Amino acid sequence: GAVLTVLGLETSCDETAASVVRLSAAGAEVLSSVIHSQIDEHAAYGGVVPEIAARSHVEMIDGVARRAMSEAGIDYAALDGVAATAGPGLVGGVMVGLSYGKAVALARDLPLIAVNHLEGHAVSARLGAETTYPFLLLLVSGGHCQLLEVRGIGDMSRLGTTIDDAAGEAFDKIAKAMGLGYPGGPALERLAEKGDGSRFDLPRALLGRKDCDFSFSGLKTAASRLAQTCETDQDRADLADAVQKAIARQLAERTERAMIAYVEQHPELEQAEGALKQPSAAREAIGPKSKALHFVVAGGVAANKTIRRTLEDLATKHGFGFLAPPLIYCTDNAAMIALAGAERLEKGLTSDIDVAARPRWPL
Ligand code: KG4
Ligand code: ZN
Repeated sequence: GAVLTVLGLETSCDETAASVVRLSAAGAEVLSSVIHSQIDEHAAYGGVVPEIAARSHVEMIDGVARRAMSEAGIDYAALDGVAATAGPGLVGGVMVGLSYGKAVALARDLPLIAVNHLEGHAVSARLGAETTYPFLLLLVSGGHCQLLEVRGIGDMSRLGTTIDDAAGEAFDKIAKAMGLGYPGGPALERLAEKGDGSRFDLPRALLGRKDCDFSFSGLKTAASRLAQTCETDQDRADLADAVQKAIARQLAERTERAMIAYVEQHPELEQAEGALKQPSAAREAIGPKSKALHFVVAGGVAANKTIRRTLEDLATKHGFGFLAPPLIYCTDNAAMIALAGAERLEKGLTSDIDVAARPRWPL
């Protein structure tokens, strides 16, 4: 098959990132992945300030993109396309990367591929690992919390989503209430290591519902209130542990529902040996299967070790292969955008040069 080399650009939040990825029959190879984090510029405000983010992207994008090209050791003439995040995200930032991508595409006469940031996270498990379609995906980041059935690039359907906050947003807001600074997820995870949250009784959301939707606002409110009652470092560590476990538990509960439904709907996919087998006439009728069940967790919150472990146990229980991208590809990066761009290019799914940045863009 063809070998496709794509420059990817990511500017939808607080990372200015560029990467060169080469896609061939052997899989995806990351030739470079440069990330400039703006965390220091936003930390004083306790969250991302859109205006500061957009200005910083303008300052950084050219240098970051040039570095990605030089670290990849290739000339622009060796590129087959330019991919840029076109949304969803902070639209001022999205416009910076997308405009830069358009300029490179025009100047070098390359196809432009507008990439949905969520689709980037969805394919990130294919970076540095051999992950084949189809798979069940839990996408958990600062902005999103969704369960998706991923059949291929541009071919995904949603099984569940959050009705209020995203899981990462819950981590960040609770961490902020506890005085842990921004971004809160990693800080809260570190604090939780020394804690025992068993004395806290945090609310469980949407208990009566049978769907795969998430809700974190009740937990956020309750935990933020409890944060005001914490007096010692031990109190705060205990609360951090309780919060982390509550978020992990909700993610696991909804993911388990999605797994059970997915197994039922895909009798053609094999459950791994030793799993809790779901008896089904459809599964038996099909006989030997050619493909296995795969579960992928991606997005910044997938960096959380407790959450990873909980989900891995769940995948094993239900006979899914468990896959998580390397940590560097869990949080925002441009390699996932370059790969999504290369996979789209392979299918001929390129974009018009006047494609618009979209603050909201559901998959
Ligand atoms: O995917 P990402 O880099 O950006 C978005 O597209 O949102 O995810 C960032 C989110 C933040 O909310 C951050 O607190 C969370 O991922 N996060 C974590 C951890 N590392 C990052 N949450 C919990 N535990 C972690 N170790
Ligand atoms: Zn993201």
